[in-house]
Amino acid sequence: MTMKRFLRKFAKSGIAALACAGMLLTASAVSAEGRIKWWQTTAVYQIYPKSFADTTGNGVGDIPGIIRHLDHIRSLGAGAIWLTPVYSSPMVDNGYDISDYTDIDPAYGTMEDFDRLVTEAQKRNIRIVMDLVFNHSSDNNLWFQESKQNRTNPKADWYIWRDAKPDGSAPTNWRSIFGGSAWTWCAERGQYYLHTFAPQQPDLNWENPEVRRALYDAALFWLDKGVGGFRIDAIPYIKKPAFRDGIPDDADGLVSIHTMTANTPGILDFLHEFKNEVFAGRDIFTVGEANGVQPKDLPRWVGENGVFDMVFEFSHMNLSLKNGETWCHPTPWKLTELKAALNATQEATRENGWCPVFFENHDQPRCVNHFFPEGADREKAAKAMATVLLTLRGTPFIYEGQELGFSNVAWPSIRDYDDISSRGQYEIALKDGFSPTEAMKFVHFFSRDNARTPMQWDDSPNAGFTTGTPWLPVHDDYALQNAEAEARDDRSVFAWYRRLVEFRRSHPALRAGGYEELLPENEQIFAFLRTVGSHQILTLVNFSLEEASIPEEIIAGRKLVMDSEENGQKTVLQPLEARIYEIAKQEGSAR
Ligand code: NOJ
Repeated sequence: MTMKRFLRKFAKSGIAALACAGMLLTASAVSAEGRIKWWQTTAVYQIYPKSFADTTGNGVGDIPGIIRHLDHIRSLGAGAIWLTPVYSSPMVDNGYDISDYTDIDPAYGTMEDFDRLVTEAQKRNIRIVMDLVFNHSSDNNLWFQESKQNRTNPKADWYIWRDAKPDGSAPTNWRSIFGGSAWTWCAERGQYYLHTFAPQQPDLNWENPEVRRALYDAALFWLDKGVGGFRIDAIPYIKKPAFRDGIPDDADGLVSIHTMTANTPGILDFLHEFKNEVFAGRDIFTVGEANGVQPKDLPRWVGENGVFDMVFEFSHMNLSLKNGETWCHPTPWKLTELKAALNATQEATRENGWCPVFFENHDQPRCVNHFFPEGADREKAAKAMATVLLTLRGTPFIYEGQELGFSNVAWPSIRDYDDISSRGQYEIALKDGFSPTEAMKFVHFFSRDNARTPMQWDDSPNAGFTTGTPWLPVHDDYALQNAEAEARDDRSVFAWYRRLVEFRRSHPALRAGGYEELLPENEQIFAFLRTVGSHQILTLVNFSLEEASIPEEIIAGRKLVMDSEENGQKTVLQPLEARIYEIAKQEGSAR
């Protein structure tokens, strides 16, 4: 059947309502769209509750603060919120140390507040996605409190306990991710326990079926409350290999625990069970945080035979710390490497599976600093990155403040930093012979506090985040850069995000289209096509601070539909300029 005949037949059929809405889709677009799930067509907004909005004046964000600002998220067009942990916690790692998996921390509000958040979000067509931290708990958790008492209690085997080496030292030479040994001595038990992260975050023993059951029950508790899915924290570390020393990778004589334990064989057996017991058959999505899972592994992690709907795969985020290096040994990288890393994920999920697209989260520097040369114009860089984020294949994740173009901070002293990993990495840099000033440069670039400064709602004191003293200082650019000001300005980063989200929503090629990279060798331009049926979108983004020429043939016959710079030069991109082209309208096309 020719395309025209198909469209005529389609328009006469009972499902012609779509056509009335101005969305004449081609045959393959229809079938591709038919298979698409709700979480593949929406953007997800990530909230770090501590930094989002404080309604009590105690300087710490809370759940009522999130409810207060739901319309900001709605106006951006996101259909889900990934909420980083709000469970009871001593907050050694801002909630990633959970003392009770089925309760809300009083600093964030009450269970009634949480239920109201789910309801209020639902009214705006937004689903709440919880963060499951199942590799470890807090040492304050009653499970650990019991486990550590002796070697015979009912929870004795819920964590990972090992005897000291004959000389009394730790069972292995593994370095925790936050620095220092991954083993801490417990005098009560006369044994060491393992912690991939801080000593206050003991690793749970997934080999024990009772532990797995308790964790699954916690997840089911939140599903009963109507949540729309889960982000699953630090999941590649749940399976431990044999406990052996590794070859030291730094002057401290230790080896990164990541190198020794991430993605150990056998992990997928645990995860298949987890999927069957908790997620299977539900209208939710799951996204695993899977640092250490490589693109080549993705077919076993996502898609029909996988365990999650998506995983955060970090090769594009780790370009300067490729092998889990410490912050003081970054490696320079080129645009072609960033493109290759993103392509690898796109390729690995092309036929089967789906991926999240992300350039920020609460553990990363701000993307305008991370992915662009020093001195890049903040607003232009933010728009450039947004254009890639919202036109690549996959579910876009927008981290709070990214939609306003937030940038890194650079506070003078390590004492100004709250982030536990910044402090650990600062110590490592000093031990490696760097001066305090040099060590601070690494902290300025990589600190997780860059992403954790309070949201900037308006130009009132503390950016409208709190009436008290914020737990972390507000970025000093808030008077000009805040949600209220950007919502009023058609040329703001926020306005660009809103246009892109809407553009993505209304273009089948972006929702359901395939991906093909163009100009793979080009060190200035990231160029790619998204295609479904006869619908095609071309994205061109100049990542450099110089003009970049566009080979004429790739834009021939295409119509420029969005341009961050509107520079008027057909074949030249200005520094950091982002453009979107559509295939020129064809006869019979409704748009
Ligand atoms: C990854 C989380 O994103 C990070 O913030 C946390 O510190 C570690 N996992 C430990 O839970």
